[in-house]
Amino acid sequence: MTTPFPLSRPRRLRRDAFSRRLVREHALSVNDLIYPVFVLEGTHRREPVASMPGVERLSLDLLLQVAQECVNLGIPVMALFPVISGHLKTPDGIEATNPQGLIPQVVATLKQHFPSLGIMTDVALDPYTSHGQDGLLDENGYILNDKTVEILQRQALTHAAAGVDIIAPSDMMDGRIGAIRQALEAQGHIHTRIMAYSAKYASAFYGPFRDAVGSAANLGKSDKKTYQMDPGNSDEALREVALDIAEGADMVMVKPGMPYLDIVRRVKDEFKVPTFAYQVSGEYAMLKAAAQNGWLDHDAVMMESLLAFKRAGADGILTYFAIDAAQHLLASKVHA
Ligand code: PBG
Repeated sequence: MTTPFPLSRPRRLRRDAFSRRLVREHALSVNDLIYPVFVLEGTHRREPVASMPGVERLSLDLLLQVAQECVNLGIPVMALFPVISGHLKTPDGIEATNPQGLIPQVVATLKQHFPSLGIMTDVALDPYTSHGQDGLLDENGYILNDKTVEILQRQALTHAAAGVDIIAPSDMMDGRIGAIRQALEAQGHIHTRIMAYSAKYASAFYGPFRDAVGSAANLGKSDKKTYQMDPGNSDEALREVALDIAEGADMVMVKPGMPYLDIVRRVKDEFKVPTFAYQVSGEYAMLKAAAQNGWLDHDAVMMESLLAFKRAGADGILTYFAIDAAQHLLASKVHA
């Protein structure tokens, strides 16, 4: 007796576009996208970020046009990152708590013009400190946890008072989610959502972002390894996520993205809470650079990389490709 060959033909379902579409398990939608933007003080200011082709730092008047574009495309959320002038940076980053500071002003104006667009803000001190670290330093240069958390609470409250929808603490101090949640509740900000940067690694992929917010030069050769996670760890990410959920996070995040998809999957499987991933500046830069050299197909790798986040279990992705990807989704009505 000869056995029929082959026993199975998985290529049958791959033969035609219709059946590939029919059996596709995961898809990217515009609802999955969060667009990170860099905001400058003043007006009529537009500065390209050299290491992030296509990304610009914009003053609020110009940012309004970008917000309009997000609304038109259906992108649910824009995430704000401030570029703070050197003269406002101090060792304690206290400008972060100024109720009239750049971020509270930008939040209030954006919410006034575009009430339906979700606005998210970063809670961390690095754009505001003269040393570029995310917290206060002791005399040995060690980042002080609890004193930093007190300032982060105040920073979060100024954002909430300005009307922000989502607060995203990216500092990796212990206990900050609980402290911020308590402060928000005590002030009656019961609707302010918290997306915790729960598993945030001490990554070299943040380089272009630090150029964009102007913290790279201040940071110099020092790193963030005493508070951001070690790239060799995976179980620890689950402990961090568990803490943040227990402390009151509504959503959790893994960062960076593409090199950490295994973490996204573990977090989603273990906790089944809204889980996000950040395709960070260095990931964007490397895809852009390869595409500019003609080594990779820009749109193809952009869409494949974003789909991979969905396959790994992410509910959404912070990506500098958000506008491009939304336009691409809109243009390709029939997905091949
Ligand atoms: C600030 C912060 C960083 C990023 C987001 N929030 C930089 C850092 O931790 O040094 C990185 C984002 C990116 O690289 O795109 N705490």
